[in-house]
Amino acid sequence: MQLSGSTVLLTGATGGIGQATARALRGRGAELILTGRRTDVLEPLAAELDARTLAVDLSIPAEVDRLIAEAGRVDILVANAALPGSGRLESFSMEEIDRALDVNLRAPIALAHALAPAMVARGSGHLLFVSSLAGKTATAGSSLYNATKYGLRGFAAALRPELRDSGVGVSAVFPGFIRDAGMFADSGATLPAGVGTRSPEDVAKAVVGAIERNRGEVDVAPVALRVGAIFGGVAPETAAAFTRRVGGEKIAEQISAGQGEKR
Ligand SMILES: NC(=O)c1ccc[n+]([C@@H]2O[C@H](COP(=O)([O-])OP(=O)(O)OC[C@H]3O[C@@H](n4cnc5c(N)ncnc54)[C@H](OP(=O)(O)O)[C@@H]3O)[C@@H](O)[C@H]2O)c1
Repeated sequence: MQLSGSTVLLTGATGGIGQATARALRGRGAELILTGRRTDVLEPLAAELDARTLAVDLSIPAEVDRLIAEAGRVDILVANAALPGSGRLESFSMEEIDRALDVNLRAPIALAHALAPAMVARGSGHLLFVSSLAGKTATAGSSLYNATKYGLRGFAAALRPELRDSGVGVSAVFPGFIRDAGMFADSGATLPAGVGTRSPEDVAKAVVGAIERNRGEVDVAPVALRVGAIFGGVAPETAAAFTRRVGGEKIAEQISAGQGEKR
């Protein structure tokens, strides 16, 4: 899929990864429609990138419908918005659980459902979903976030072959720990020595590459974390015991303590 001249709808444009992704997509010549709730961040970014903006709250289904109605023609969807949804299950209210499901899972599915038919009719388009390595391996203290990110992975993995002959590509991108900006960096949590990170610009580059080369799944993490995620997928019990032994549950607690206000 060629980005130059294509119209890209990017959700979560105001976040750490979203801003880097918006700049990378614009750098490849895409016309952008940027969304987020924080208009004080959205508007200056849109001015910088000559983009349209649609400020919506993705936890409200009627707002998702408004986004779809007002966006008009979309050639490429980059569904990037999410809440951290970290913390032990009993620490969430049902309202917070619904919000995480709505923003992280329902909104990307609703957007794909609404936008894909016109892409299929044109015989071209791309749907990209930003999941997480938390969509491949689970950690205690992250069950809700894991549920949404595993869900997004399953959705993309099935939709890709479903649309294979239509000319519409489907990708999922799986960041690990992202430094400098975004929900992990904002949490203030520190990682043990030797656990590597990637930058928001690395994720943005992966998003651009996945669209341009129609790649199914792209990890954005050092090799040790990528191997750990594969291991977590095939041997979850052993991986959970290993994570506990190396202090992974403590890190999950630290991350969740720093992300409470984003629920
Ligand atoms: N940072 C990491 O280490 C990391 C690792 C793995 C995966 N990821 C994934 O990468 C993506 C981007 O995350 P990030 O790190 O950039 O997080 P972030 O800085 O917290 O940004 C989250 C984005 O989602 C938007 N959002 C949240 N709730 C919303 C709502 N109710 N309605 C509309 N928009 C909403 C936010 O917009 P407003 O605040 O303006 O509403 C913001 O643009 C997410 O899917 C995340 O799960 C991140």
